[in-house]
Amino acid sequence: MLKQLTLPLPDDFHIHLRQGSDLANYAKRAAEQFGRVLAMPNTEPPINSAETVKKYKEEILAAAPNLDVLLTFKLNKNYTEQELLAMQKNGVAAAKYYPFGVTTNSQDGVSKIEDIYPTISLLEKLDLVLSLHGEELDAYCLDREREFLKHLEKLCREFPKLRIVLEHVSTLEAVERIFDLPQNIVATITAHHLILTIDDVIGASLKPQNFCKPLPNSPQDRDAVRRAAFSGNRKFFFGTDSAPHPLEKKECLGGAAGIYSAPVAIPILIEEFEKENKLDLLPNFIAGFGADFYKVPRQTKTVAYIKEEWQVPKTIDGAVPLRAGEILKWQK
Ligand code: DOR
Ligand code: ZN
Repeated sequence: MLKQLTLPLPDDFHIHLRQGSDLANYAKRAAEQFGRVLAMPNTEPPINSAETVKKYKEEILAAAPNLDVLLTFKLNKNYTEQELLAMQKNGVAAAKYYPFGVTTNSQDGVSKIEDIYPTISLLEKLDLVLSLHGEELDAYCLDREREFLKHLEKLCREFPKLRIVLEHVSTLEAVERIFDLPQNIVATITAHHLILTIDDVIGASLKPQNFCKPLPNSPQDRDAVRRAAFSGNRKFFFGTDSAPHPLEKKECLGGAAGIYSAPVAIPILIEEFEKENKLDLLPNFIAGFGADFYKVPRQTKTVAYIKEEWQVPKTIDGAVPLRAGEILKWQK
């Protein structure tokens, strides 16, 4: 039986590190698991200028000096080419699109995606990535990603050279569409969408720690996400969407969407890939295809994991992590 596993130091191409006094804890915790992260911009206030990008990177590095940090900015207005170039110079790899009101800190999101086509056209020109939170606000909550796919298809037609990531893919229809669309259209997959369905959020009792956007969906949707992850297709790579909220912001009226998965995501992935007999595909999923897509060098360092059971703490950094209190099989 496999007892040890050496993997390339993982990348996380979608993480929320927050701001203020929480940032240092979350950044340090991320650096325990990952060599490189792509940090999301839906902080308060948002990351949306060369100055805020620069400052955010400095704050992350002050807490986690060895972390390789790539940044995003929020597409909450149109930008000039000069603004985009200045952000690109400061380490921005992607522009993040949030539809208005669909998830945490998206009150300044975009109501109509066509309104920001001028900026999207510049992204294509400058070879910046468009990172999509792909949900249609007006749709039924479990169909929001499916209903968004028409916008994705239109983006592909209008901007054929643009590199696009459909983040945290969660439905059968979206997975199939990504397989079919050209090579420059890819998707990230989270650890939680590989293992959860809506039953894990509201099935037996309300589990706020598993509440996130897009929602964990049906078993058929989860299984499609699993097939994509275990396909070995370079269009699917790992991004945790680790999104910590303090316990009191999750367990209250109007609880926040977001799953804190950074501390447990890699052990969970090892377990799931092992279960499917696909461990040979894990290195590319966590440290290959994403780097290639973002045109950054692949990781050369490695990490050794051992098969030794451990119990996930009930809280980490004041937040309830994914699989809190449960036993995981693998650890560093
Ligand atoms: O569940 C989520 N939480 N989904 C998102 O898109 C945002 C994230 C957050 O920032 O908390
Ligand atoms: Zn996210």
